[in-house]
Amino acid sequence: MNKNIITAVLGVCCAVTAAGRTEAEIDSCVNDLLGRMTLAEKVGQLNQRSGFGYADEMVGLVRSGGVGSILNETDPETVNKLQRDAVEKSRLGIPLVFARDVVHGFKTIFPIPLGQAASFNPALVEEGARIAADEASSVGIRWTFSPMVDVSRDPRWGRIAESFGEDTYLSSVLGVAMVKGYQGDDLTKPNTMAACAKHFAGYGASESGRDYNTTWIPEIQLRETYLPPFKAASDAGAATFMCSFNDINGIPSSGNRHLLRDILRDEWGFDGMVVSDWGSLDQMIPHGFSRDRRHAAMQGVNAGVDMDMESYAYCAHLEDLVSKGEVSEAAVDSLVANVLRLKYRLGLFENPYVDIKTSKRFYADASLDAARRAVEESAILLKNNGALPIDNSKVRKIAVVGPMADARHDQVGTWVFDFEKERSVTPLDALKDMYGEKNIIYAPGLEYSRQNDTKGFAAAVKAAREADLVLCFGGEEAVLSGEAHCRVDLTLPGAQSALLRELKATGKPVVLVVQAGRSLALADDAALADATVFCFHGGTMTGPALANLLSGEVNFSGRCPVSFPRMSGQVPIYYNRKNTGRPAADMTLINDIPLEAGQTSTGCTSYYLDAGDGALFPFGYGLSYTTFAYSDPVISSSEIAPDGSLTVSCTVSNTGSREGSDVAQLYVRDHIGSLVRPVRELRGFEKVTLKPGESRVVTFTLRPDDLAFYNTPTTRVVEPGEFSVWISPDSQSGNPAKFNVVDQPSVAANN
Ligand code: BGC
Repeated sequence: MNKNIITAVLGVCCAVTAAGRTEAEIDSCVNDLLGRMTLAEKVGQLNQRSGFGYADEMVGLVRSGGVGSILNETDPETVNKLQRDAVEKSRLGIPLVFARDVVHGFKTIFPIPLGQAASFNPALVEEGARIAADEASSVGIRWTFSPMVDVSRDPRWGRIAESFGEDTYLSSVLGVAMVKGYQGDDLTKPNTMAACAKHFAGYGASESGRDYNTTWIPEIQLRETYLPPFKAASDAGAATFMCSFNDINGIPSSGNRHLLRDILRDEWGFDGMVVSDWGSLDQMIPHGFSRDRRHAAMQGVNAGVDMDMESYAYCAHLEDLVSKGEVSEAAVDSLVANVLRLKYRLGLFENPYVDIKTSKRFYADASLDAARRAVEESAILLKNNGALPIDNSKVRKIAVVGPMADARHDQVGTWVFDFEKERSVTPLDALKDMYGEKNIIYAPGLEYSRQNDTKGFAAAVKAAREADLVLCFGGEEAVLSGEAHCRVDLTLPGAQSALLRELKATGKPVVLVVQAGRSLALADDAALADATVFCFHGGTMTGPALANLLSGEVNFSGRCPVSFPRMSGQVPIYYNRKNTGRPAADMTLINDIPLEAGQTSTGCTSYYLDAGDGALFPFGYGLSYTTFAYSDPVISSSEIAPDGSLTVSCTVSNTGSREGSDVAQLYVRDHIGSLVRPVRELRGFEKVTLKPGESRVVTFTLRPDDLAFYNTPTTRVVEPGEFSVWISPDSQSGNPAKFNVVDQPSVAANN
């Protein structure tokens, strides 16, 4: 059949506008197309290659239908040229889908996802993703490998930066917000991107926080802790999933039929597309799961990996596997159908090209404004002895010190392939702007975060002596977190703590502002500082946002999305732990133990002799320039049936003298379970903004789903018994209300 006839046939099939096409119509287009494809063309659709410009090899591959998706090509002219080769010069004219890791912004960089999580503000997260989609799609990127919804409880793991932190519920809510932001309400609009929930699954549990490491996750824990954010993303319509690098209980995710078929397809009904991680089919060989690449290709197809990202396993072996009857063509067809469905859903058959006239929509004022607000809502005030906000009546000269004060490259964090350094506005820029250049004495002390050489200390100390206030910007360079960038020691790297000690010795008030890609163990540094601010790498607008917060123009409202350890050895650490049979009590710490004390002298409870128990700054915690009070929670009923609901309310009041926002957090505890339940679990949150003296009643509804848990891998139950419920400003404080789940609620209790 010649090309014109095929185009005419496809044209009939695709005559309706993409937005108007029903799923049934998409299926019929997909089947029609599948019926016309050779095996080689089918395998081509499953092949994803990294771009290398308009090179002969790539052009040949595209024209022969040998590639279905290209990642990392960001020049809109090249995108259009390659797309033209696919649409106009390949036999069937199937468009390519161009992909990229747009993780926290494309050009306008937002805070790393862990920072965005600190905002506890899904609307803000959605807005950031919308802006990222608009910018990236303007060069032809219609598929991003984001959100990463791996629950992460170990800050040694560098990829905690890309996550929404330690909590399953928060990760679910924010993952959904990101999916909505990228995909919008109509994925066929050319300014949207298909989302990709990654890395399916359990990657955040990499043993000992070392990247790519093995995981052992009992099925019940998998379903309780790690899978819900993925299920939420699937329910929210995430167009694609990516499987993870790690093995779970011995089976690498790329060959994990149970995960990719039993759970994702059969239980959840996901009908989108699954991509491997980079080279992850191939990596089943060193894992010790595949004999060779051919075996890996077969295992990938059987498990349900639709697209092979850069393993070259499908393109090298699938045709042969089918011809020898080791893989059925029907199995290949089902993978190809998922790829084609994605392309129809994106409207690529109708709108394959970038509109060059409106291309490169970057750095709109509104986008920069949103990026600034995102940092303002993400930065956490961890400690304040009154040094903040900067008091203009006392502070004339400010010493700006530390390696992160003017770190245009490092303040943006990990996964920013497209950022432009000169666009970063640093704290130094913004403070000069705000306070006047002559009032800022800049002496970094250390040029970069890992530096051990102290030759710059003398100038920093001199600056501190001449100033009324010291702002010390410390933290981690961008390269110290992210993929394959794990750390064992979670303290400030290099000589930063020593610098802080020297600054403190000047007697001047010292504010420590940390910018990092993970939670750090800051006990000694925070004890020294008069105020401590934590800002996960904030992106392009870090400087103006921090200046607004430090000066008091804007109030802090960020809350810890992870528990901050006192010492590195406490990790993994998370608030929703089990109580143990011997919860910490009457702790005797290492320096208080008498010499030659007996084995049982410290009380035999669950704590560390050197770090005690619990986090330095717990999940959900964060200060403000005002204060808030919470009334005890009021519940609508003290007894409910297992399928019943109740409401919980409390009054939040601003008891200070400034307007501010607090995050009211709803926690539950199931006291006695057939399997032991965590001490608290987040089930809702609301950011409340109150003027001084103002109060507001916040109300949450607790539904059966909020009380249920898996007591076997296949049964999720609400068990009768006593529950506590809190509405509190963090995961540790507040008084609970109690209620009972009973098989037969008494009439009185329901009234
Ligand atoms: C990462 C993924 C990423 C992919 C493509 C991999 O190394 O694990 O998160 O999406 O590369 O860049």
